[in-house]
Amino acid sequence: MKPLRYMVLALLVAALVALSLAGCAQKPAATGAKGTPQNPWVIGMSQCNLGEPWRVQMNADVAAAAKAHPEVKVIYKDAQNKSETQQAQVREFMDQGVDLIIISPKEAKPLTEPVRNAFKADVPVIVLDRKVEGADYTCFIGADNTKIGREAGKFLVKILNGKGNIVELEGLMTSTPGQERHKGFIEGIKGSNLKIIFSVDCKWLEPDAQREMNSALARFPQADAIQAVYAHNDPSAHGAYTAAKLENEGREKTIKLVGIDALPHEGVRYVRDGILTATFQYPTGGKEGIETAINILKGEKPPKNITLGTRIYTKETVAAGGAAIQ
Ligand code: FRU
Repeated sequence: MKPLRYMVLALLVAALVALSLAGCAQKPAATGAKGTPQNPWVIGMSQCNLGEPWRVQMNADVAAAAKAHPEVKVIYKDAQNKSETQQAQVREFMDQGVDLIIISPKEAKPLTEPVRNAFKADVPVIVLDRKVEGADYTCFIGADNTKIGREAGKFLVKILNGKGNIVELEGLMTSTPGQERHKGFIEGIKGSNLKIIFSVDCKWLEPDAQREMNSALARFPQADAIQAVYAHNDPSAHGAYTAAKLENEGREKTIKLVGIDALPHEGVRYVRDGILTATFQYPTGGKEGIETAINILKGEKPPKNITLGTRIYTKETVAAGGAAIQ
């Protein structure tokens, strides 16, 4: 009996060894150079939310750029507009051992430390669109929000002949684009007789903007009390439009609305439809994010900041694809 048992055992062990060897042979070679289609670099991408069309576009731009580069694989996480979730996501990417992190942070302060920790641990971090505090990141890519705000201010000074009352529907003021779009706007209207008579944080959200615009219209009920709305993004400008049109007897006809983002199917369409007077393009940086990531992974040192351009779309320029701003 005994020798038979040994033989069965030996056969079992041999079968197991053969099976595991066959398994190994099927796997792609895990060793050797990284950054090949068989063994791609892994990029962790943390998006602060996917509830807003502009962010959906950013992820689509990242995915389209990455598709042309089989040497990278992108893992996406959606923080659902919660800074704590986004903090955890950066830590999870570190634990997973990703090769590079791309983050579009919800707010500057809470995301500063996780980004710093990754950067200090030699995991390259590309920050897109909204900034973190300090300089402990590898590369920031985004448009110049102060400049966009300034241009929006100068545009309103021009079309209102230097005089008028403005409602400002701000973006989330704990995020840098909100702060910079406000600061730039103040610079742009400086020296004119444009006055901000109502200013409120709408957190980038259309329903908040619609509600706040209703409050502004109720507080300033005379037909000529408000000449223009400066909204920090197109969803907020559209919220203002809805409030003025649907709930305030057509006041949208006397109030000029200016927004930012200029997605083709959102702000640019609003300008074409006569809903907005102007929108300023805010490029997502998705493509540049992937291109920069690949350069970093290949060992190149990127610039600390990559500043993207902007365009203005008005009814005069919309058909021609807007006008560049120098
Ligand atoms: C989307 C968004 C855009 C805006 C950008 C600023 O979340 O609100 O509309 O331009 O973020 O970071």
